[in-house]
Amino acid sequence: MSITVTCVAPVNIAVIKYWGKRDEDLILPINDSLSATLDTEHLCAKTTVRASPEFKENKIWLNGREESMDNPRLQNCLKEIMKRSQLSKDMESWKLHICSENNFPTAAGLASSAAGYACLAAALAKLYKVEGDISGIARAGSGSACRSVYGGFVRWYKGSDPTGIDSIAKPIAPASHWPDMRILVLVVNDSKKKVSSAIGMKRTLLTSEFLTYKAEKIIPKRIEQIQEAILKKDFETFAEHTMRDSNEMHAACLAAYPPCIYMNDTSHLIVELMHQYNSTSDRTKVAYSFDAGPNATLFLLEKDVAELLGILDHYLPPAVDNNLEYRKGISIEVTSPSQS
Ligand code: ADP
Ligand code: DP6
Ligand code: CO
Repeated sequence: MSITVTCVAPVNIAVIKYWGKRDEDLILPINDSLSATLDTEHLCAKTTVRASPEFKENKIWLNGREESMDNPRLQNCLKEIMKRSQLSKDMESWKLHICSENNFPTAAGLASSAAGYACLAAALAKLYKVEGDISGIARAGSGSACRSVYGGFVRWYKGSDPTGIDSIAKPIAPASHWPDMRILVLVVNDSKKKVSSAIGMKRTLLTSEFLTYKAEKIIPKRIEQIQEAILKKDFETFAEHTMRDSNEMHAACLAAYPPCIYMNDTSHLIVELMHQYNSTSDRTKVAYSFDAGPNATLFLLEKDVAELLGILDHYLPPAVDNNLEYRKGISIEVTSPSQS
């Protein structure tokens, strides 16, 4: 006897980044953030949860390898689910076997924790018949995961309640609102990052005053402006805010002590190339954003995709001898915000 549920969840890429927690245990951020959730064909987590009275203990496998259930984030997700479960007490005592796979590199700065915990929250919610918003459950696993619970453009409100009850994600516009928006993910390096997002943001908050300045003085205005730009489909304004926010997150990381360095030479080359491309075009055609890793995400309109792919092919060819990252090649995924 058992019940099995399988869910798929895509990654999301923040254009206004979450970087810094005001509460480490509850995963409460120092600022609101805003992202686009990608489609369900490319970068996704797929999670199957099976509950059975015959299982002796809870177990989890990630990408085919058994991991420890002692992970406090995993435990917090389960706790949040149990608080809202509508199953009988009898079935609640059944043990779980959780199996999750990402179809893209894990812990490489491509938002695997976002897709992974959003997917886990969705699967557990289905299993335990939890209704309503589940972004708070996903947040208990990884902050950015709360935004992957919804498709399209999503804002995570930092909230003000000390319990975190109002620190939830809400969709601000569905993907269909801006149907010609495209997202290119350039995988520069797919190896595991040396400093996880959690450790990197903690160190940055503790040692870089610029991060607090950004959260308090820059983001509140910028997030309203970018939200308005999305609602008006004003690409130029959207692009500038996106690039500035990514640059400033990495500037804060560099100002940490010791510095957290996520972007590499190839990342910087991409930044330079995109600025050159925009400034020699009749309008801003592309925006870049970097998460905690060297990989670039580019935002652009459908009509400009072919031209940009040509430029990337020309300037970032897949084989150049004296640079490891180049030699690995840059794989490109073209995707668009998803409906949910
Ligand atoms: P990323 O940039 O990929 O989000 P993070 O450092 O934020 O990297 O998080 C990586 C961690 O997220 C992994 O070590 C793992 O603990 C967790 N994670 C990633 N994918 C999944 C998944 N599918 N299911 C559960 N947890 C996951
Ligand atoms: C750079 O959500 O991975 O991708 O909450 O500690 O799990 P934890 O961190 P995580 O951080 C994401 C950082 C980011 C920016 C963003 O997605 O907003
Ligand atoms: Co992450």
